[in-house]
Amino acid sequence: VRALADAPRKVDVDGDRRAHSHILGDATQVSLPVWSRVTGSRNHDRQAIEWKRMSNDKYQLKNLTTGKTSDLETLSGTVGPDVINIGSLWRDHGVFTFDPGFLATASTESRITFIDGDAGTLLYRGYPIEQLAEQSNFLEVSYLLLKGELPDAAELDSFKHSITRHTMMNQSLARLYSGFHHNAHPMAMVAAIVASLAAFYHDTTNINDDRHREIFSHRIIAKLPTIAAAAYKHALGQPFVYPRNDLDYCSNMLHMLFSVPCEPYTVDPLHAKALDLLFILHADHEQNASTSTVRLAGSTGCNPYAAISAGVSALWGPAHGGANEAVLDMLEKIGDVSKVPEFLTRVKDKAGGVRLMGFGHRVYKNFDPRATIIREMCHQVLAKLGQANNPLFELALRLEEIALKDEYFISRKLYPNVDFYSGIIYRALGIPHSMFTVMFAIARSAGWVAHWQEMIADPEMKIARPRQLYTGPVKRDYV
Ligand code: ACO
Repeated sequence: VRALADAPRKVDVDGDRRAHSHILGDATQVSLPVWSRVTGSRNHDRQAIEWKRMSNDKYQLKNLTTGKTSDLETLSGTVGPDVINIGSLWRDHGVFTFDPGFLATASTESRITFIDGDAGTLLYRGYPIEQLAEQSNFLEVSYLLLKGELPDAAELDSFKHSITRHTMMNQSLARLYSGFHHNAHPMAMVAAIVASLAAFYHDTTNINDDRHREIFSHRIIAKLPTIAAAAYKHALGQPFVYPRNDLDYCSNMLHMLFSVPCEPYTVDPLHAKALDLLFILHADHEQNASTSTVRLAGSTGCNPYAAISAGVSALWGPAHGGANEAVLDMLEKIGDVSKVPEFLTRVKDKAGGVRLMGFGHRVYKNFDPRATIIREMCHQVLAKLGQANNPLFELALRLEEIALKDEYFISRKLYPNVDFYSGIIYRALGIPHSMFTVMFAIARSAGWVAHWQEMIADPEMKIARPRQLYTGPVKRDYV
């Protein structure tokens, strides 16, 4: 495949780009020569408009055996690498592309989140994560992810009001927990209960109805804390605690986790603030494994609760959101700074598949900006909680320091990711290991819902159906 410096293919140009800058985001820094406009509508009554930019670069694929060539057009986003449209390969050459794990494949177009892995940049709808972490809050960020713009005061009030009024669980739903053993992992319970929501809200799961989609979005963001806290209470054998609508999102989460009917419980504002910051950092991360799972499941037209439940299950894996629980287990097993070299030797030997959990990322190859914020937050939160000398934090800092000087990690560009330090904060807040990934799921629900909404509104949405390279037996007879 080689690049051709052809002029961009001429396509219809329609509309003033500046008028649509709210769609494109402020991150646009590149020249924007040619735009194509595709209008269309799905069964729902919203008219979707999609803007694509043809790049100046074209590529040509040549079959060296037959000499047959195909020109492949390139599309540019507002920032980030171009993508080669290989949609015609099968038609023109009868071949598929092969990219296990999507190392070089963009599965969709999206306007929600941008990551530059080399620069350590993360933008939600164009806004740098550092600024949102400093100045925003989780519900405002959720609104931003869902709607594409920061809300004004009235819009935020209305959004908060709607989320707050959807926090309760149907009593029949609450009874489902009694079917789980007391030591069931909370992620298993949360995935099952989320999937069950479709049985309770069947009358509002028409994915082609804007209002149904909005109600679903608010319900998921509102109810996940209640569902998660109930899973925790079930494990403890304590009564479920009802949500309190006078509390903010994260204070209410802590109230439902830690209060009991027999004595008053006051939420520590510092704990709520720390949780809110973690939720902002975890709210979205473009086409990560769980979000892609939500999109893939949702592309079948299944009810949206089923798609979110699939996302919860995918998040649970230790290579993804399950890493925060695995990091704490790892730190406890290492136990002491003196054991770090021995542990790292086992990691580097790749003996028994041991990995340095909380290290490495498919996209970040320099640093994960979320990890930088969380490490700093660890210092502050632990100091304020009187745990400045927290031994696990000291161990994590030392482990990071040693690993970052080690040729194995340097040559593979392995750095701490968001989950290297998040578990230490969760633990300092009194949240048990088994709930770490559940907390992540609550935060990521905002991103899942935003991506699901974006996909359903896309007039070009197709069922996600990858191809394969078949290496099994050829046809044979049953005898
Ligand atoms: N410890 C030791 N070696 C590692 C680690 C690690 N944490 N991560 C990657 N490597 C090594 C691999 O063994 C491989 O080595 P090789 O070139 O000698 O074969 C090389 O680095 C590349 O690793 P891949 O697995 O190919 O990288 P990939 O992009 O597929 O995986 C992943 C990324 C899954 C995050 C990986 O780094 C990992 O398993 N990390 C630990 C789990 C973790 O922290 N996950 C959370 C990610 S953030 C999130 O999802 C919220």
